[in-house]
Amino acid sequence: MTKTLIVGNWKMYHNTHQASLLLHHLSEKVETHRDVEVVLSPNFLVLQSLSLQVNHRQFKLAAQDCDWHDEGPYTGAVSATMLSGLTKYVIVGHSERRHGFNESDVVIRKKVQAVIRNAMQPILCIGETATERADGETKHVIHDQLVSGLANVTSEEIEQIMVAYEPVWAIGTGKNARPDDVREVATLIRKQIGSLYGKEASEKVRILYGGSVSSHNAAEYLATEGVNGLLVGGASLNADEFASIVASAHKTATEKES
Ligand code: PGA
Repeated sequence: MTKTLIVGNWKMYHNTHQASLLLHHLSEKVETHRDVEVVLSPNFLVLQSLSLQVNHRQFKLAAQDCDWHDEGPYTGAVSATMLSGLTKYVIVGHSERRHGFNESDVVIRKKVQAVIRNAMQPILCIGETATERADGETKHVIHDQLVSGLANVTSEEIEQIMVAYEPVWAIGTGKNARPDDVREVATLIRKQIGSLYGKEASEKVRILYGGSVSSHNAAEYLATEGVNGLLVGGASLNADEFASIVASAHKTATEKES
């Protein structure tokens, strides 16, 4: 059974106290289901304390980024090596990193490698900007970011990868991608992985959708062919909202099974 993955990206919100309080609310409200894996991604500073507080059967943890060097004179950076053992996943190539911090495809590729090398799983984010979409460039952008991000990933490692399709224009804007467009891109991603690693591998890679997901639209994305989960930003900071998205994931998974 492929578990549906629901990831809450807390971004740069919440100090230690606030994060602990949110985790407390989430632990009370989010139900545990065997067909849904729930992942919380707080900032680096609170990862350590949350990892002590969290019920690891209820929630897994993800870092929002990492440096690709194992160690060295890189002031302000946190390496994948340092995260190893603390988190199961690391988000790599989020559009806020690509566009806000000028991360290149090459850096993102190195981060994917570093995460795998340190025994964690990358959640590789890809997605087109509004201009690229308007110019009809979506397919190219998806293809290029995917192929580049996976460039050094071997066929033994590919099943470790989660790919999150996050159209940049849909992130934090309340503008949702149409489920049909998401299906089309998910198909494209799987096809591309299939042509690089074979059909079996392509069926095992989990593809997530992210961009203004809320309790109101989660179900339609989860029901979309080829989508195995969601990367949730804003709505993941609200315990009721997030719990309801997780409940939707369980409901949809149950419906798909029957
Ligand atoms: P959003 O963010 O849900 O607030 O649009 C999604 C993301 O950045 O992963």
